Amino acid sequence: MDDFRTVIEPFRIHAVEPVSLSTRKEREGWVREAGYNLFNLRARDVLIDLLTDSGTGAMSRDQWAALQHGDESYAGSPSWFAFEAAVKDLFGFTHVIPTHQGRAAEKILFTTVAGPGMVVPNNTHFDTTRANLEATGAEAVDIVIAEGRDPTSRHPFKGNMDVDALEALLAARADDVPLVMVTITNNSGGGQPVSLANLRQVREVCDRFSKPLFLDACRFAENAWFIREREEGQGERDVVDIVREVAALADGMTMSAKKDPLCNIGGWLACNDDALAQSFRNLLILTEGFTTYGGLAGRDLEAIAQGLKESCSHDYLRYRIRSTAYLGEALEQLGIPVVVPIGGHAVYLDARRLLPHVAPLQYPGQAVAVALYELGGVRSCEIGTVMFGLQPDGSERPASMDLVRLAIPRRTYTQSHIDYVIEVCERLAKEASHLGGYRIVAAPPQLRHFTARFEPVA
Ligand code: F0G
Repeated sequence: MDDFRTVIEPFRIHAVEPVSLSTRKEREGWVREAGYNLFNLRARDVLIDLLTDSGTGAMSRDQWAALQHGDESYAGSPSWFAFEAAVKDLFGFTHVIPTHQGRAAEKILFTTVAGPGMVVPNNTHFDTTRANLEATGAEAVDIVIAEGRDPTSRHPFKGNMDVDALEALLAARADDVPLVMVTITNNSGGGQPVSLANLRQVREVCDRFSKPLFLDACRFAENAWFIREREEGQGERDVVDIVREVAALADGMTMSAKKDPLCNIGGWLACNDDALAQSFRNLLILTEGFTTYGGLAGRDLEAIAQGLKESCSHDYLRYRIRSTAYLGEALEQLGIPVVVPIGGHAVYLDARRLLPHVAPLQYPGQAVAVALYELGGVRSCEIGTVMFGLQPDGSERPASMDLVRLAIPRRTYTQSHIDYVIEVCERLAKEASHLGGYRIVAAPPQLRHFTARFEPVA
């Protein structure tokens, strides 16, 4: 590439979708009706939707073409073989079990290996991973390195697992640990990467205690790009090569094809162990579908196979990581507290620092997320005490951080959309001292952030 400063979108727009403009007054009414929960909004009332990078990306011309190759045979469809080959080419696991999305893979995995009295360590469990694990009666333990809990630390691999903590847990409770999990990148901890060196150390500890290592690999390509950019001796490698080495360190993976594989639906569970795979498949047939389609249509399998190939393109990943950093760096320059370094798929505002006058149990993250919507129609996602504060025994305590995630859908928004988001955040920072907290008026006993209703604290 020539050395121009501007990293352009490495694509042109082929089909467009309208976004509907609205006024602040309209949005204040809509969010009140939604019980101040952004999940309850109608998407058409959102201007820039940064709720999630999951399933919200734009497919390529070649993926839309691949859909036409979808073969909907119940068993043994050619689309299944294309999917299986693409997954195996990158990750190399012996058994691939297709699911309709990532959490279905988690459900099958944990139903098979976990249960009461057990404990599964992870750098940080994502919300569905934690919930699926806790639903079996097992305990979910987060052991990311200390820097990973500090929004201001500039450690290059803040997603790394605390290997000493892993070793201590295994030394104390080896029999209770069915497997060790590492999430790449660490979504709940700011989209931060895990280094190859850390994964090798985790592997070594797992070997010593004869424990399988599973990757929650949703953002494997972004993680590999960070390894290429930041880890010594990796700068000349092909991302595909790094992905294969990372996968070879693990015994299995859960996956959501809605993230790095650039699809709107899909996922899988993979492993090398024959007996485990047999149990997974038995459950799969019960809950998802036959072993050669899982919860997916043949056309989805084709789109995933093609998306996987595109996900490791260096031009794409350079643009992807750079454009996320573009948003984060602009906010930093405005003095707005964000988690640094900037993660792969999202920028995380540090709501606790932005609203120091709002106590964690009055949900500063929720207050920031609602204000971003009211001010500019930008939908974000609280990742803090609303999402993680409710304990299995029904009590509540502050999460380790109160963040608001601005997740960037893949290949969907342009730089001017992001410039607009920057302006909305700037206005929010100016009004921050006037923002108050929220209380929950209705919530389910689990995964409350999706459906809880709130009201402003007077
Ligand atoms: N693991 C991680 C790290 C995730 O980020 C997600 C989903 C899942 C597992 C579950 O996958 O949605 O296909 O069932 N994260 C989305 C998000 C929802 O917004 O970060 P899924």
